Amino acid sequence: MKTVTTVHELRAAVAQARSVGKRIALTPTMGNLHEGHIALVRQAVAHSEFVVASIFVNPLQFGANEDLDTYPRTLAADQEKLAAAGCALLFAPGVAEMYPNGMDDQTRVVVPRVTEGLCGASRPGHFDGVSTVVCKLFNMVQPDLAIFGEKDYQQLAVIRTMVRDLNLPIEIQGTPIVRAADGLALSSRNGYLDEAQRQAAPALYRSLNHIGNALAAGANDFATLIAEARTLQEQAGFRPDYLEIREAETLRPAIPQDRQLVILAAAYLGSTRLIDNLTINR
Ligand code: PAJ
Repeated sequence: MKTVTTVHELRAAVAQARSVGKRIALTPTMGNLHEGHIALVRQAVAHSEFVVASIFVNPLQFGANEDLDTYPRTLAADQEKLAAAGCALLFAPGVAEMYPNGMDDQTRVVVPRVTEGLCGASRPGHFDGVSTVVCKLFNMVQPDLAIFGEKDYQQLAVIRTMVRDLNLPIEIQGTPIVRAADGLALSSRNGYLDEAQRQAAPALYRSLNHIGNALAAGANDFATLIAEARTLQEQAGFRPDYLEIREAETLRPAIPQDRQLVILAAAYLGSTRLIDNLTINR
């Protein structure tokens, strides 16, 4: 696997692969890679002939009081994992390469509606930073295919909307959430948890299953189910941020007639904010 840090080198390496007719896939990440990220790379390998991964901790998507400075940076270990999974090219730019004119003067991509509520409400400006950086990466690589995790369910919906609205000729695929044996969704932020918090953390997923099992059995008392699940979270030591039932494709608030539902949650354990979701077809 080759690692490049400039857009110039990136374009040259991708052009070479394209010149021999290879189908190109992109898996954007912020590094500190775990099995969830590697599942995206494996899916990319299965659906393309040249896999590009990016590692960039994107300052534009972090709020002022968030963990930009402490976000784990583990490039050497990440390179090993990517190479082992079959990634051909890693793009790992610095901030000056991505934002040469500074972030204040950076043109933004703003996706309306689907960015409202959920993480969009808790993290103002976050999705503008995500859609902007992903649009830039798409234009730098011009992949045939790009892969995102269902772990960040709203993010995946934002990317799909951007691609549709801007006519970007890129196929978007989602990858199912990869979980630890106890149910906790893998996340780079799990590393912030101390031992007791890590023990408590799977309660977030259990709270989603509490709602999901009831919905699958036909329950429609959304408010009661959400109140019960919040109590489960609080009993485990979480401070709930949001917990909502939405229609799975559009992310509008769910109504009893909906068949495809997604339950989405964010909650704090100490100062660590975890997110998770569960889709239900009924
Ligand atoms: P990051 O948090 O590093 O995640 C990179 C990709 O891995 C995202 O598509 C995310 O949904 C996916 N992912 C993370 N944990 C996962 C898990 N347990 N199972 C399945 N997929 C998982 O998301 C970002 O970076 C950034 O916002 C980015 C898209 C790179 C833009 O900066």
